[in-house]
Amino acid sequence: MDSIKVRGGNRLSGTIEISGAKNAVLTLLPCALLTDEPVCFENLPRLADVDSFMHLLNQHGASTMLEGGHNGGFGRKMTIKAERIASTVAPYDFVRKMRASVLVLGPLVARAGEATVSMPGGCAIGNRPVDLHLKALEALGAEIELAAGYVKAHAPDGGLRGGTIAFPFVSVGATENALMAAVLARGETVIENAAKEPEIVDLCNCLVAMGAEIENIGRATLVVHGKERLGGTTYRVMPDRIEAGSYACAAAITGGDLMLAGARGDDMRAVLAELRDAGAEVEETGEGIRVAADGALKPVNISTAPFPGFPTDMQAQFMSMLALAKGTSLLTETIFENRYMHVPELGRMGADIEVSGRSAVVKGVDELVGAQVMATDLRASMSLILAGLAAKGETHVLRVYHLDRGYERLEDKLGAVGADIERVSEG
Ligand code: EPZ
Repeated sequence: MDSIKVRGGNRLSGTIEISGAKNAVLTLLPCALLTDEPVCFENLPRLADVDSFMHLLNQHGASTMLEGGHNGGFGRKMTIKAERIASTVAPYDFVRKMRASVLVLGPLVARAGEATVSMPGGCAIGNRPVDLHLKALEALGAEIELAAGYVKAHAPDGGLRGGTIAFPFVSVGATENALMAAVLARGETVIENAAKEPEIVDLCNCLVAMGAEIENIGRATLVVHGKERLGGTTYRVMPDRIEAGSYACAAAITGGDLMLAGARGDDMRAVLAELRDAGAEVEETGEGIRVAADGALKPVNISTAPFPGFPTDMQAQFMSMLALAKGTSLLTETIFENRYMHVPELGRMGADIEVSGRSAVVKGVDELVGAQVMATDLRASMSLILAGLAAKGETHVLRVYHLDRGYERLEDKLGAVGADIERVSEG
């Protein structure tokens, strides 16, 4: 099990190339199941979850061809061809490792008329049910049965038919499954209270490139006019706004100056606004987004929310940064019920953070001290790396397999801009 050692105190400076977005890729890859023609995705990040999804697609009978990217593998290409669906089962072994596997549900029911997908189960940050995914498919005529930890979904004989899906609250994954089912349903589907995240827009743009017809892309009410079939396409994955936001926090917490090449400001308005409020200098250029800070940061109060609000996936990273601000910040996590697993670990580094329910009061301290800490989930891992970059002495982050799910070659990217960081591979 690998770990990462960081010796803090260096100001980061230089350019970090932002990779393709993990949370876009994980909903784009299953789109290939919707057609028998080849679909080619460009700008793929080198992440554990991408490899896992590739194996899941193979399990369904799709062929996958991966071509290396530039500069040692950044920006890989994958061509997927699901000429026929050999299996409509997504076994527990896949789904337990990567809950995004549930995103094959909509495409399989739409293309093959059925799917048997293991229930994903909870994870470190919360229970994370899929009831809204199932209700969306039922609204399109699917019959759903739950048995032995699996969801069995069947389309009616004539296949899925258009309907109205009204989500009681925003769900990114449920919106994604609803879209991937509706594009092959007979007739019109209206999706109300749809998620508006940039990754949803990327999904819609890819589906349209495959021949789908979707109105109001990027808005809360989507209208899908179902098609008989979709075709292949070549699609470039959007840049990762959460990776970019994470490295922006690295610049701020170290008093550094980083150019986040390829980052898109429109994907990150709420994050950039809070960085500015915390005292960082943020400049958008043709190359990307430059973030710089010199000296102490100011406290800010943040409440996570669905896009365009402040993303829950940036809460842990901001908490590390604010642990060293001059004053007290209040963070409120409104999306997941248990997304403060990083707090006790930051506390062991000297942070002064008090959690009460969904809120965390972060009292800025003068310094953090390096320690051996345990990663518990993807974004918590990044918050520990960020704290280590600014802490006195050495921080040893264990269980970095969490990190490898969402950050492509993190130690290479941070090392190249001056971090004293190394990966320790233990067998
Ligand atoms: C996606 O997860 C992202 N993952 C998450 O990123 C992100 O935090 C989340 O959206 C919110 O933006 C991927 O895109 C692969 P949701 P998802 O459905 O789709 C509840 C990361 O760090 N809910 O929007 O699972 C759910 O429990 C990951 O990159 C139901 O109750 O999130 C949560 O409380 C973490 N029933 C809330 O809704 C459902 O059927 C939002 O979840 C579905 C969700």
